[in-house]
Amino acid sequence: MRILETVESFRAARKELTGKVGFVPTMGALHRGHLELIKKSVELCDTTVVSIFVNPTQFRAGEDFEKYPRTLEDDLKLCEENGVDIVFVPKKTEIYPNEKIRIGFTISEELSGILCGASRPGHFEGVVQIVSVLFNIVAPVVAIFGEKDYQQLAIIREMVAALNYGVEIVGIPTVREATGLALSSRNRYLSIKEKELAANILKVMDGVKVKAEEARFDRRALPVEFIEKETASKLEFLIPGSKVDYVEIRNTNDLTKGRFLARDSRIFVALFVGETRLIDNLYIGA
Ligand code: PAJ
Repeated sequence: MRILETVESFRAARKELTGKVGFVPTMGALHRGHLELIKKSVELCDTTVVSIFVNPTQFRAGEDFEKYPRTLEDDLKLCEENGVDIVFVPKKTEIYPNEKIRIGFTISEELSGILCGASRPGHFEGVVQIVSVLFNIVAPVVAIFGEKDYQQLAIIREMVAALNYGVEIVGIPTVREATGLALSSRNRYLSIKEKELAANILKVMDGVKVKAEEARFDRRALPVEFIEKETASKLEFLIPGSKVDYVEIRNTNDLTKGRFLARDSRIFVALFVGETRLIDNLYIGA
């Protein structure tokens, strides 16, 4: 496994690669969720590249950029053990030689103005900036992203289609703890008690799924707004000290919203557990 830190050295290595290059962009603090993405790339491709870069432009002022977990030594070990060929670990100056320049794809209002786009203005603009720069450097054939960050995946698909990147985007279902808590680098911020309580996120989303299935069976229309409000209260009740940012039910394909629960729905949750912001989502069908 090679560890490369400069764009120049990466480009030189890239020139030598033949066959299908798979790419897994990450911010490090790797866990089993990231490893599933890596495994998929190893399975699909001849060469697997992982990038580790805590991208400053996707954090807003007051967010956790400084304290974001940085565990490079462990990350490299995990990459090595899981068949990664090249780890790209650039310095900030390699990626952004001129910090004042903000390049980027203009995300459609439909995707940028909702969910995390509404709660974290500028966040996805930072994501498309880094992903497009990394795509230009890595020049992958396939890139793998997690459904844990479902809106991010949708925005990357939109960008790749609109700019004709010619990169195949593969989505991987959310990897969870045995308790149901979605794995996240930010789970490291949680106390044992908070982690235990946060497992209720999946339980509550599962409850909505059951309710949706029952309503479909009885041919009852479920008002979306009512379900969202009820779910938010349930979450805050079951997770003392939590504060819901949003609970929303949207179409799984285009993230549009209807007044009544319809087919192919997905529930999206963002909440603060103490200081830690967690997100999760689940297909609820109906
Ligand atoms: P990061 O949070 O490190 O996540 C890297 C990739 O791992 C993303 O595609 C994310 O969706 C996926 N992932 C994280 N937790 C997962 C889980 N529990 N199950 C499945 N996949 C999971 O997302 C980012 O970094 C950044 O925004 C990035 C795309 C690297 C741009 O900076």
